[in-house]
Amino acid sequence: MRDLIGIEDFSKEEIDELIEISKDIMDNKEKYSEMCKGKILATLFFEPSTRTRLSFESAMLSLGGSILGFSNANSSSTSKGESLADTITVVSGYSDIIAMRHPKEGAPLVASMHSNVPIINAGDGGHNHPTQTLLDLLTISKEKGHIDNLTVGLCGDLKYGRTVHSLVTALSLYSNVKFVFISPEELKMPEYINEILDKKNIEYVETNNLEGSIPELDILYMTRIQRERFTDVEEYERLKDVYILDKKKLDNAKEDLSILHPLPRVNEIAVEVDDDKRRAAYFRQAENGRYMRMAIILKLLDEKNLNYEYKHLNDAIESNNCKCENSMCITSIERGLKQLAVKCNDNKLRCIFCDHEIK
Ligand code: CP
Repeated sequence: MRDLIGIEDFSKEEIDELIEISKDIMDNKEKYSEMCKGKILATLFFEPSTRTRLSFESAMLSLGGSILGFSNANSSSTSKGESLADTITVVSGYSDIIAMRHPKEGAPLVASMHSNVPIINAGDGGHNHPTQTLLDLLTISKEKGHIDNLTVGLCGDLKYGRTVHSLVTALSLYSNVKFVFISPEELKMPEYINEILDKKNIEYVETNNLEGSIPELDILYMTRIQRERFTDVEEYERLKDVYILDKKKLDNAKEDLSILHPLPRVNEIAVEVDDDKRRAAYFRQAENGRYMRMAIILKLLDEKNLNYEYKHLNDAIESNNCKCENSMCITSIERGLKQLAVKCNDNKLRCIFCDHEIK
């Protein structure tokens, strides 16, 4: 079964193909309108969403298929104590493909171990959000005409921001992309993402200075400081408005800068920036999500993908003595789940579900 758990599940060639299919769908909607007739998409959202859930549902309906699901864990039997494994075993008997969002990191990987139908990760805690990344790449391709040779600034919560983790991993596949990571010390990019860039000798700068970084950027990817990821409320209050992009800060920006944001925004982009129609690309970005998710559904339901060799677990070893200590990892709540790990080049063990180091 072909799943989309992390962006690394697709090669660069497949990502480029998805971008081209999305563009073709935009230009030829009628051609695709019955391609999923008789197919059912389940959207299982254990965490709030506007864009991801509704664009997935819009995508399946636009392909002629049907939808079912829930938008709140409290309205599912999870609230009665049902395990994720049991929920997925049951729902995969009711549907042909499942898009799921969960607050625990690695939950979609656990789901894929129990599903008879493709699982799409629609966001797992602060870990990954691969379908957001695919629509971000579509947006960059449409706004700039290319994805190579860009200087990309990512600003805000780089520690818990699942969208930036998947996006940096994907952009590392393209040529001559340079990164500027703009965050307070407390919200810096996780080590495992920097390691991906180090291994490929890709240039990145870490700074806390938004205004000083803007002039060199082709893309500025703003992110929200996410209250729901903080265990310390005081730390959230101190950091929540650390970056606010307003018109004044754009005075020295390139004329063709593209400002992206996965949304929802709170204060990090002032509403006045919306009037800068050329550079403010974030609402066009959200709309692109519908077409990219149509392309993703088509790819995962494609017959030739049904015997795909599942690579996530290939290198996994059972870690009997050590347990992942990340309280946000799915291993912290799922009953009967074996601790699986991968050994990295530096001999460190990383939890296969959340990528945190196991000590
Ligand atoms: N970008 C994104 O994931 O938005 P939602 O949380 O509204 O789905």
